[in-house]
Amino acid sequence: MTEREFISNHSYVDIERGEVKAKCSSNIALVKYWGKYTPQLPANPSISYTLTNSLTHTVLEFKKSDKLSVDVYLGDSKQDKFSQRIEKYFLSIKPYVPFIDRYHYTIHTQNSFPHSSGIASSASGFGAVALCLLEMSELFGEKLTNEQRRIKASFLARLGSGSACRSLYKGLVVWGEHSEIPQSSDLYAIPFPFEVSTVFKEMQDTVLLIDEGRKEVSSTVGHRLMEGHFYAEARFAEARKNLSVLSKILQTGDLESFGRIVEHEALALHAMMMTSTPAFILMKPTTLAVIDKLWKFREETHAHLYFTLDAGANIHLLYPEREKDTAFNFIKDELLKYTKNGNFILDKALF
Ligand code: PMV
Repeated sequence: MTEREFISNHSYVDIERGEVKAKCSSNIALVKYWGKYTPQLPANPSISYTLTNSLTHTVLEFKKSDKLSVDVYLGDSKQDKFSQRIEKYFLSIKPYVPFIDRYHYTIHTQNSFPHSSGIASSASGFGAVALCLLEMSELFGEKLTNEQRRIKASFLARLGSGSACRSLYKGLVVWGEHSEIPQSSDLYAIPFPFEVSTVFKEMQDTVLLIDEGRKEVSSTVGHRLMEGHFYAEARFAEARKNLSVLSKILQTGDLESFGRIVEHEALALHAMMMTSTPAFILMKPTTLAVIDKLWKFREETHAHLYFTLDAGANIHLLYPEREKDTAFNFIKDELLKYTKNGNFILDKALF
């Protein structure tokens, strides 16, 4: 689909006031998206696992108004920065949601994971808001098939936060055009279109909360620093190549090769941050201590336990269901001491 096809010419029947609800999961990228073009188009394709337990629940109340305005609450506390961000976002998607500026919105949002824990709350957050808007469109008379709803929600979520577009599907999800992934698009995400080996359908993800503070550098700033970055073109080419290789691995079930690519991708993402101008480092000494312990453990046991990182210090540990006990015992006995207050999230990919 092209951008034009998302422009809505439906004649909506406005409702005076009402309420819609949605929930959406977070996701963790295996091949990372880092670098973008206006309007929020990825510089390279990416693939992620959608998680099960890291969720955002959103209730959106709407009330007819002369002017668009938004109040966002996280739990009980009003979030002025988020309110402004969502208001700006709503204005930007008017061509696709024409009634959007005829309302005042009160948005109550609740994450199942600690805010600013480094878990991508913007992915699940924008995913849930996009689903709410689609539900509103349907209340106002637009008829959509399940597939149309998913694609449009993914398209709208992308305009809020790029990686959010991948949260609209379960399992493995691809965003960004790639010559070997049929139907892939820069505009929205699609489910990974090939049969996935069983071992990759049961992937566990334990997230070690190393640092629960606010991110020192936002991903918006990080993406911008890829413009003119000395390694940018090489990085984008590498991500395309890694997606191509990983696509085959996911179909054949080769865990060691999976681990090699996934860990490389995490380190490449952080290498881009460390080599940008100005440089920034989001890993903490404890992030490196965990990686070191993990590599030693793997050398001794040959366990299939691999790490990946988001734009933060926290570590996602990925392992197959059948090695759950060995992996978790190691995490509990050897790695939890590196977290802030022993905090972690037990999650898994959702299929
Ligand atoms: O969606 P954004 O703009 O917050 O970018 C997030 C990018 C990473 O999480 C670091 C990688 C990815 O592909 O999810």
